[in-house]
Amino acid sequence: MIDQPNGRGGALRRGRFITLEGGEGAGKSTQVRLLVTRLEERGIEVVATREPGGSAKAEALRQVLLSGAATRFGPRGEAILFSAARIDHVDNTIEPALARGAWVVSDRFADSTRAYQGALGKLDSRLILELERIAIGNARPDLTIFLDIPPEAGLLRVSKRRNGKAADRFEAEGLAFHTDLRKAFREIAKTEPKRCVIVNALAPENDVAAAIWRAVETRLLQTTAKRPRRARRKEAAEERA
Ligand code: TYD
Repeated sequence: MIDQPNGRGGALRRGRFITLEGGEGAGKSTQVRLLVTRLEERGIEVVATREPGGSAKAEALRQVLLSGAATRFGPRGEAILFSAARIDHVDNTIEPALARGAWVVSDRFADSTRAYQGALGKLDSRLILELERIAIGNARPDLTIFLDIPPEAGLLRVSKRRNGKAADRFEAEGLAFHTDLRKAFREIAKTEPKRCVIVNALAPENDVAAAIWRAVETRLLQTTAKRPRRARRKEAAEERA
């Protein structure tokens, strides 16, 4: 049986929140697009969004954060600015969507602060988790997909895509930083296996999309998997009858 999150025969319920995370050049934006199309084909209302940004005031902060203008605040200051942007994003885009039953798919969210600002500034993890608690409230992702790619391969993709344009604030960091970053993302996935799935982002685009869809189906769409075996057997018997 498939959940009907927004109407179509089922009771209205809070939407589901999916985030895609990963290092540079992992292909998140493409995969967000493919996932949104697939969910919409199921008749689900989806809000696609991104961080930093995703709401008017947060988009204004995005310019500051990605231009490098915020670097002079230091890693703690940058973490706070990313969190300030997140507060606006959660309050004005994510929460209203989830509350009306829409699903939200975000290209990056709080795990990026854990990984990037954590890896960059060796910040006290208590500070990062406290900022996260303040910024996201109830808007905890139901599912987070980590697109995992060796940093050398990811950075190569990014530099090809950039085609001569200057690297942004974080792309410009050295290989050691991007290696730490990958470790940090994998560590999060290991400590929160119920929420997180790692997908190999070196695979062809369609295979990556298929792996993401499998995770969405098994973890968010198929409610039968969570039912007691007796109930599932009864349903199967009814289907056969
Ligand atoms: P963006 O142009 O969206 O790149 P990408 O395709 O890699 O997502 O740039 C976002 C950059 O901001 C990216 O380098 C990661 C960084 N970032 C943080 O450092 N902390 C955060 O909390 C977020 C959301 C992003």
